[in-house]
Amino acid sequence: MKIVIVGSGYVGLVTGACFSEVGINVTCVDIDKKKIDNLNNGIIPIYEPGLENMITRNMDKGRLSFTTNIKEALKDAEVLFISVGTPPDEDGSADLKYVVAVARDCGKHMNDYMLIVTKSTVPVGTSKKVKQAVQEELDKRNANIEFDVASNPEFLKEGAAINDFLKPDRIVVGLDSQRAEDLMKSLYKPFTLNGHPVIFMDIVSAEMTKYAANAMLATKISFINDIANLCEIVGADINKVRKGIGSDSRIGTKFIYPGIGYGGSCFPKDVQALIRTASENNYDLKVLQAVEAVNKLQKLVLFNKINNYFDGDLKGKTIGVWGLSFKPQTDDMREAPSLSIINNLLEAGAVVKAYDPVAIPEAKHHFGDTISYFEDQYEALIDADCLAILTEWPEFKIPSFKIMTKLLNKPTIFDGRNIYDREEMKKEGFEYYCIGVNTNENKGVLV
Ligand code: UDX
Repeated sequence: MKIVIVGSGYVGLVTGACFSEVGINVTCVDIDKKKIDNLNNGIIPIYEPGLENMITRNMDKGRLSFTTNIKEALKDAEVLFISVGTPPDEDGSADLKYVVAVARDCGKHMNDYMLIVTKSTVPVGTSKKVKQAVQEELDKRNANIEFDVASNPEFLKEGAAINDFLKPDRIVVGLDSQRAEDLMKSLYKPFTLNGHPVIFMDIVSAEMTKYAANAMLATKISFINDIANLCEIVGADINKVRKGIGSDSRIGTKFIYPGIGYGGSCFPKDVQALIRTASENNYDLKVLQAVEAVNKLQKLVLFNKINNYFDGDLKGKTIGVWGLSFKPQTDDMREAPSLSIINNLLEAGAVVKAYDPVAIPEAKHHFGDTISYFEDQYEALIDADCLAILTEWPEFKIPSFKIMTKLLNKPTIFDGRNIYDREEMKKEGFEYYCIGVNTNENKGVLV
């Protein structure tokens, strides 16, 4: 089978690489010529574990290719995936111009039956617009060619996207024809052999599933962060409470880790988009509004602790920062808590010395030379008045506490991800402040 994927961003590249990995002939298309030239030379525009290897291997096998020419790519293809970006426009709603443009291109150039599948995260009702755009272009050509549309949202986690694609918890497909169902079944067969299910449903429900899934996950995070803040005030320990509630199988242990707020390209955008869809339909999504509000405040919690610790005077204080990406295993800094925290530190007159295993080039786009960057995590601590941990990269989990105590002016850590054991930190001689725990040491640096 031959398929075309339009939009060679994060989702498109992972999708293209994984389909080609199971022997499907894939052409990835993008309008960005430089990106396509780079990909043809084996240069991958994003950091995602395992992706580069998979792309180059399948290119060598001749199953994966990259082009800017959608017309050529569509020849002999049966399925077209749309995975272009849907950036928020001025009023915050998803801008669908790229999605619709691909649908139009398809209508202009397709010569035989085509299944057009939307993978980009799009508002409920978008597949209808895709169908309409394709039909309009076919009508202009007086072409009587059959086609179907489908919605196949992605649930990939950055940093684990390849594994998520190859071994999905589930694949959700919304469609309205048997032909489309048969095609999607055979396309996903290699991924479902080990019992990973494909859940077929109508198109609107599939579109809604994506938003509801992300909204539910974001809700778990804001809920636990809200409870963590209360734990601090009443003297409870969120780490214990988390274990206590997580062992109830109805709640579950996953995705209830307190921190400094969710970031990334999905949760903030999707929560906002769903609130908007609701209000456009005269419905007030109260829970999600609170989820968003809690998240905004949570991004300030660590800054507030640092600021309180220094009695509201951060001028000239040096803060070592470990971790800039919104989560480990990615260089993505979109909506990362590090952005709000570091900007607040800078505004308060602090000096920031930062280390991240992969996100420094990305961070330079945001902070330029307003902060300094280090290749080594310990160098970022030299002469620092404290350390702030903003991303839970594995390499931060068992560092040399001896070196840290030596380098820091005073052994003080503000841990936004609760990666250390409090008792151990005490033994190592640190003043240790984390999220959702109030002990005597935490006095004065509450939420
Ligand atoms: C998410 C969804 O998981 C994925 O299914 C969807 O398709 C895209 O959005 P991603 O944005 O890659 O994936 O990140 P994820 O691992 O889900 O984490 C999102 C944010 O939540 C991060 O900022 C992370 O630090 C935070 N988080 C996650 C917590 O604060 N606590 C947790 O327990 C889990």
